[in-house]
Amino acid sequence: MTGSNGSSPVSDQTVLPKPEGLEGVVAASTALSHVFGEEGKLVYRGYDIHELAGKASFEEVAHLLWKGQLPNQAELDGLLTSLSANRELPEQVVSVIRALPADAAPMDALRTGVSALGASGSGLFDDTPDLDEAIALTARFPGILAAFFRLRQGKEPVTPKAGHNTAQSYLYQLFGEEPEERHWKPLEVYLTLLADHGMNASTFTARVIASTGSDLCSSITGAVGALKGPLHGGAPSKVLDMLEAIGSAENVDSWLTQALDRGDRLMGFGHRVYKAEDPRAEILRGMAREASTPEFFELSRRTEERALEMLHERKPDRRLYTNVEFYSAAVLSAVGLPGDMFTPTFAVSRVVGWSAHVLEQVSNNRLIRPQSEFIGPLDKKYAAIEAR
Ligand code: ACO
Repeated sequence: MTGSNGSSPVSDQTVLPKPEGLEGVVAASTALSHVFGEEGKLVYRGYDIHELAGKASFEEVAHLLWKGQLPNQAELDGLLTSLSANRELPEQVVSVIRALPADAAPMDALRTGVSALGASGSGLFDDTPDLDEAIALTARFPGILAAFFRLRQGKEPVTPKAGHNTAQSYLYQLFGEEPEERHWKPLEVYLTLLADHGMNASTFTARVIASTGSDLCSSITGAVGALKGPLHGGAPSKVLDMLEAIGSAENVDSWLTQALDRGDRLMGFGHRVYKAEDPRAEILRGMAREASTPEFFELSRRTEERALEMLHERKPDRRLYTNVEFYSAAVLSAVGLPGDMFTPTFAVSRVVGWSAHVLEQVSNNRLIRPQSEFIGPLDKKYAAIEAR
């Protein structure tokens, strides 16, 4: 028997479940974080995100994810010292970043920089991921991005300063001046919110690569590539583009109607797992109210309200709510970052979750190797080239 596309059924396939986009498939066990989609709840190692946001520093959250508990003062000081000691980039990595064209996308520069770091012969990384490597890599994410950010403007990279936390060091290396508290504090809260998020696409990518016995930089290079896509972490600059294109409150309805009529997706809305509001969106909304200009916040709020109403009218059974990306745009703009640095800044945080997942994967590894459903033809016969 042959299918409509000329394929033949393969005998062992009919029993294999194949949800589209692997929806609902459990791909690993993890004690790191969990998204409770129905309730709109996110938990890191047993702590609700509301319990940590604005209270725990980014480094406390990193310690929590990597080591399973919040640090005491000596442990936190030790982690800050290790991160500080690891921030500088090997010269070979700076040379690779220097060779990129100024119009390269920052996520491409980050992916290249992480890959270069793995090949730099610095002695920092070997084939076996461990916590020291996770710290060494996390510490250098801000520097890779800041080096590219400055070089593309014709400026030299800035040497990181001891004593800065991650948020401060990132802003200092980007802009070359002491960051103001009104900028690094909201950035730090943002970083704590984005550090991990269950089995998302980039985390899955990192775990798949780690499961082959590959090295940490390879896993994280792959994860950066997965995060870049607009259906995952690439949405916030598109949220900014959308808000800029709308321009003012009176254009909201017509702009959104036209976009939905065209079949476009509204960036910053919908989620594979959340069927209620993303709890990070709620926290970021509050931060955006404080950090951005009243005009920009009003435009964001009006756009959000109307987008939700229209999505609920047009897709009543889809339960589409605001996701983390929508108010990330307002918060990161207020911190002084341009749109194309939003997704890379997400990665400055998520490298903690990715590396924690890699460590968890290798601690109890089995190769991740799913099955595919074969839908191609069978039993074809080779024809010599002159006969085709
Ligand atoms: N705007 C308009 N329609 C949407 C949106 C949206 N933002 N999101 C989902 N839908 C609709 C789809 O068109 C589809 O409708 P249909 O069944 O009538 O064709 C339905 O809802 C289901 O969509 P799927 O793509 O099957 O849902 P999935 O779970 O695969 O997608 C995703 C989730 C990719 C996040 C989606 O909601 C989306 O594209 N959102 C916009 C991009 C975005 O904000 N990305 C950031 C996500 S957060 C993060 O990863 C950090």
